[in-house]
Amino acid sequence: MTEYYREDLAYIHDAGHAEFAIESAPGILEILSQNGVGEGLVVDLGCGSGLWARTLVDAGYRVLGIDISEAMIWLSRKRAPEAEFRVGSLFGAVIPPCGAVTAVSEVINYLFDPDNGGRRLLRLFQRVYEALAPGGVFVFDAAGPGQVAQGIVSRSFTEGTDWVVLVEKEEQQRVLTRRISTFRKVGELYRRDDEVHRQRLYEASEIAGELRGVGFEVRTMPGYGRYLLPNAHSAFVARKPE
Ligand SMILES: C[S@@+](CC[C@H](N)C(=O)[O-])C[C@H]1O[C@@H](n2cnc3c(N)ncnc32)[C@H](O)[C@@H]1O
Repeated sequence: MTEYYREDLAYIHDAGHAEFAIESAPGILEILSQNGVGEGLVVDLGCGSGLWARTLVDAGYRVLGIDISEAMIWLSRKRAPEAEFRVGSLFGAVIPPCGAVTAVSEVINYLFDPDNGGRRLLRLFQRVYEALAPGGVFVFDAAGPGQVAQGIVSRSFTEGTDWVVLVEKEEQQRVLTRRISTFRKVGELYRRDDEVHRQRLYEASEIAGELRGVGFEVRTMPGYGRYLLPNAHSAFVARKPE
């Protein structure tokens, strides 16, 4: 069992935080089509519970989803049985030749791997570039500094019919720490689990510069199509020139 997005948080993310994947999907489909990627294989890094993979399959694409969380991959396989899914880190997994790579909802920010420093991100960009066909695109978003004011610990909760999640957030030196407590109803009782997620926050200009250094043509956007990302987030379309 992996340490992150264990069974209950994966369930809650799927049940209660699906809007990001669902609302960004039409805009990303449009980006693929505008770039001439109308069919073939799309590799979805950090595929979560397979919401975006389901949309891709319905639109006629072949999909390979990769996620570090076994619980997420289990949900993905149920949601999109036509697609292929693998448990693994996007910083190490083999990315096969494809027309597009996606990483939706802050996937590249997570510090789940022991060594997810700047060089690993650059190496990821190089691996994606190598895997893409000429004209292919890497579409993703990232969180930047300014998620929480310095010195502040922000606390919030969200609830569904059979779960509650409490989150404490703190930002220090471009690292966001989220302490997450989940309570999920199992039978008559609520089961508690706790996870701590850390994310490195990147300036959009820093990411765009690294992508250009690898050879990509880069467009930075406030969202995917009509779906605007939350404050201090940016979306990127990195195209491999033909
Ligand atoms: C906020 S969720 C987004 C899931 C999905 N893309 C969506 O939009 O619903 C972030 C996902 O990234 C995955 N993730 C984070 N770091 C990862 C890594 N190094 N390798 C693979 N997956 C990773 C997590 O397990 C989680 O499923």
